[in-house]
Amino acid sequence: MMLLNEILSQWADAEFKRIFKDSGCAIPPVSIIATSNPEFGDYQCNDAMALAKILKQSPRQIAETFTRSVALHFSLERVAIAGPGFINMYIKTEWLSEYLCSMTSDVRLGVPQIGEGHTVVIDYSSPNVAKPMHIGHIRSTIIGNSIDRMYRFLGYNVVSDNHIGDWGTQFGILIMGYRNFLDAKALSETPVEELERLYVKSYGRTKEDENWMAQCRQELVKLQSGDQENLALWKEFVTLSLKEFQRIYDRLGVSFNQVRGESFYNEKLRGIVDLLEQKGLAKESEGATVVFLDEEKLPVCIVRKSDGAFNYATSDLATVVSRVTEFNPDKIVYVTDERQQLHFRQFFTIARKLGITTRLDHVWFGLMRLPEGTFSTREGNVIKLECLLDEAEQRALAIVQKASPDMQLDQQKAVARSVGIGAVKYTDLSQNPQTTVTFTWEKALSLEGNSGPYLQYAYARIASVRDKYSEKHSDINPDVYLLKLTETIERKLALMLIRFPDVVLRAAETYKPSSLADYLYDLAQTYSTFYQNVPFLKAEEGVRESRIRLCGMVARVLRTGLDLLGIETPERI
Ligand code: ARG
Repeated sequence: MMLLNEILSQWADAEFKRIFKDSGCAIPPVSIIATSNPEFGDYQCNDAMALAKILKQSPRQIAETFTRSVALHFSLERVAIAGPGFINMYIKTEWLSEYLCSMTSDVRLGVPQIGEGHTVVIDYSSPNVAKPMHIGHIRSTIIGNSIDRMYRFLGYNVVSDNHIGDWGTQFGILIMGYRNFLDAKALSETPVEELERLYVKSYGRTKEDENWMAQCRQELVKLQSGDQENLALWKEFVTLSLKEFQRIYDRLGVSFNQVRGESFYNEKLRGIVDLLEQKGLAKESEGATVVFLDEEKLPVCIVRKSDGAFNYATSDLATVVSRVTEFNPDKIVYVTDERQQLHFRQFFTIARKLGITTRLDHVWFGLMRLPEGTFSTREGNVIKLECLLDEAEQRALAIVQKASPDMQLDQQKAVARSVGIGAVKYTDLSQNPQTTVTFTWEKALSLEGNSGPYLQYAYARIASVRDKYSEKHSDINPDVYLLKLTETIERKLALMLIRFPDVVLRAAETYKPSSLADYLYDLAQTYSTFYQNVPFLKAEEGVRESRIRLCGMVARVLRTGLDLLGIETPERI
């Protein structure tokens, strides 16, 4: 099924070429977009402005000639000119209704499988071993997972890779901390917290005691050269951390195709530096090996430090070579916080110089601000995220108990889990990722504003309308009735619904789940106006069935859209 904006764009394109054939000018493709304001029709074409230069006529003249001579597409009632040369298009209501019915009869709601036969690697979450997940990793997990879901829905073969930081100089320091300061009880109770404490304590000693630093280095060298004992300790750190991360992924409903840490590429680091040297890209500088990026106006990138250790960039270079060879992807997407922008610019530039042509995209986001007192425990730690989720569920439980006092406690808890987690995720996903988000409970859990619970509630309300209908009219199948869009609000709702496939495509292409969230919020609000202003169950037969059908369509779009954001939709709240 073709998207309506594409159908209209193709038609308008052909019409422009036909109408202005005699001009002898090459007419570039035009495009038709949905209007944001119903005053300007349902769809519009703004290309007369650009064509004015080519055709050497005013935009208004071009729009007039077009409107006068055009053979209307069969979906259109009429076209009209507005302002200096906009062309507004009005869809035939019956056609709209048929189009909407065929879109909703498709299990995929008309979303095309443009990704079939294409692979995308998405690198997200990627926390570091022996350190708690910080807010950047949490945002990466939630935003990355939504991008992952959208690409899968578009039919891409997605390789989701949790690229954990499980290799590097910190392990020498940690091993020394473990050997000297371990609190075994704390390790069994809160392993990642304890590992972090050991690291911080040992790191502190390196600042005061040179001998300590030398011992840390020695432990690292032993680990890197395969010392059994140190390797076993390292494995324990990795296992303990992964177990703790997994608990969070389970709660968030996030899973990966693979969890390959940086250590997976360890053997390949030397080869990458050799290759850079062979190609004349890397040079010795003060004992280190570096790549100069002056031409690109980027700072120099160190790929091997003077003590022989490899860097983050070296690791990412080895990783990208391996991913390109193994998966042959169309693109590789990296989701991290804004502080890594320079790293990715440098590393992408060097990757290009190495001959990698695969598209590489860095999706970055601002950090989330947690106002004082949002949580009881200290800044940036895993326990805190779990506290946040616990508190979200608790607060959601109060909402559910108020809304559905007669529901069984077990069920109330299950719903509260969906609502609480949904609220946290939605806060993250609904904002433009490249801004700093401030998290507040009032906003996250608001039943009136732009929040996860608001959308889940809208969905549940539709479900209850449908339930009431089928209780009363168990003998009628509403789907055999015509979908009639008689009221302005019904037409508006239908126009919004048919935009869904395009919204998903764009949100995926631009890596902006927030644009899908905005759309769903608009849809829920429009639905709410519809629900408040037209009678449903009291309407006459036929009208009633048509409205119930429309409700069902809104529900499906909401459910599918929220699922792409990783948010569940309980049938009752
Ligand atoms: N582990 C890194 C960090 O916590 C993020 C890794 C992102 N992915 C990558 N391929 N560099 O900062």
